[in-house]
Amino acid sequence: MRILSSATRPAEAQCLVFLFAKDAAVTPPIAQQALVRDAAASARFAGEAGSTLDLYVTEGEKVVRLLLVGTGGKSTTDMEKAGAAITARLLTSGVVHVAVDGEGHDAEALSHLALAAQLRSWRIDTYRTKLTEKQKPSLASLTLVSGDAALPGLLVEKDALAQGIMFTRELVAEPGNIIYPESFVARCRSLADLGIEISVLDEKDMAALGMGALLGVAQGSVRQPRLLALRWDGTGGAQAKPLCFVGKGVTFDTGGISLKPGPGMEDMKWDMGGAGAVVGVMKALALRKANAHVVGICGLVENMPDGNAQRPGDIVTTMSGQTVEVLNTDAEGRLVLCDAVWWAQQTYQPDTLIDLATLTGAMIISLGHEHGGLFSNDDELADRLLEAGKASGDKLWRFPISEAYDKLIDSPIADMKNIGPRFAGSITAAQFIKRYIKDGVKWAHLDIAGMVWADKPGLTWDKGATGFGVRVLDELVRRHYQG
Ligand code: BES
Ligand code: MN
Ligand code: ZN
Repeated sequence: MRILSSATRPAEAQCLVFLFAKDAAVTPPIAQQALVRDAAASARFAGEAGSTLDLYVTEGEKVVRLLLVGTGGKSTTDMEKAGAAITARLLTSGVVHVAVDGEGHDAEALSHLALAAQLRSWRIDTYRTKLTEKQKPSLASLTLVSGDAALPGLLVEKDALAQGIMFTRELVAEPGNIIYPESFVARCRSLADLGIEISVLDEKDMAALGMGALLGVAQGSVRQPRLLALRWDGTGGAQAKPLCFVGKGVTFDTGGISLKPGPGMEDMKWDMGGAGAVVGVMKALALRKANAHVVGICGLVENMPDGNAQRPGDIVTTMSGQTVEVLNTDAEGRLVLCDAVWWAQQTYQPDTLIDLATLTGAMIISLGHEHGGLFSNDDELADRLLEAGKASGDKLWRFPISEAYDKLIDSPIADMKNIGPRFAGSITAAQFIKRYIKDGVKWAHLDIAGMVWADKPGLTWDKGATGFGVRVLDELVRRHYQG
């Protein structure tokens, strides 16, 4: 769907949207105003954020479809609820062009409405070959009717963000037979056109670097692993050290020899949601030509059981030289990340590194689907992420880390084991990654296991891939890492 803006109502719009704040008078600037007001009263439409009322009026000889949409208190969230409601209502309604009267709402508010409308239109129909015409989306454009000169610029920025989020959703939603390490990299190749520098390590490169943990996970799969690095420097070399994002990209997680139970295993196609978010934010930053230097790194592997798969009890040597006793092959995300974050630090010497991962089921037990878990060795970085999370809608909640938790992953035979005791599973997973963060590096770990996939529609998404992580990272860069 295309988002446009115009000072006047476009002639092709088959549907007109009027926005009303909570309890505002329903007085659309049209001939049949009284009829609309009465209809709103009888349907109890009172402008609550995201509420809608569908009706028809005549304009001369023509029938015009109207949609009244509530913008509540006009907060960012309320505007996004309104935008998403427009799309949810009209996406397959037969309406092709919709015009939204922006009267009474400022450019910033309208840009949030537009972003949400666009995000809510995303779906993946690639494999649905039998959709009837009526089931297919009809909505092709949404025009914001507003004379505010600030609006077009804001829409360009929001579009960059939307494109990033939708790219993440695509990668997350694709099944494991389509998206595997090599094809994940192939999908990212077009980012080079945006000015992103792409480098890729294959199995041989990683073996030469001693990435025994990442390769140990990959060895049970016929799919070759990859380490993908995307670099965006919008500072023209002014920022020497990049901010680093590192994503867990397990393109399918069967658990390996510590095989997961069958029911629900299909969910593990989205075990690359951290890597997906990293790629999406890189796309957004490049599209909006952010004045920042950022590198996004994805550790890409498939975790399969096989005659060559690693065994529980195997000991692997990581690129850092530290050894790991692999007690459970299903705790594979940390094994991928430990080599990826070490390589990131060796290669780019960042001051700040943030990793994202669908790391633990325990995270979903703790926070459900409302917050991602945040772990950090630096209070300032943690606060920045919490604030960016609140502002962007990708909400985070901080968990503790400490030496007492760290001790729980000591191994009697190697430097550490890859699982802790039964309790505090998300924290011991974070402690594992922390052992690969060099002194002086500000680090945060986002466990987004509960956030990348939704079983029911949410604020700006339908069921399925949410694109979680892109917005909080984009907002973080915007606030703190731009020149
Ligand atoms: N990818 C899973 C975590 C996960 C589970 C994400 C469910 C989203 C939904 C991860 O690789 C995993 O299997 N973790 C284990 C760790 C355990 C073996 C210590 C888990 O959480 O059960
Ligand atoms: Mn696993
Ligand atoms: Zn996993």
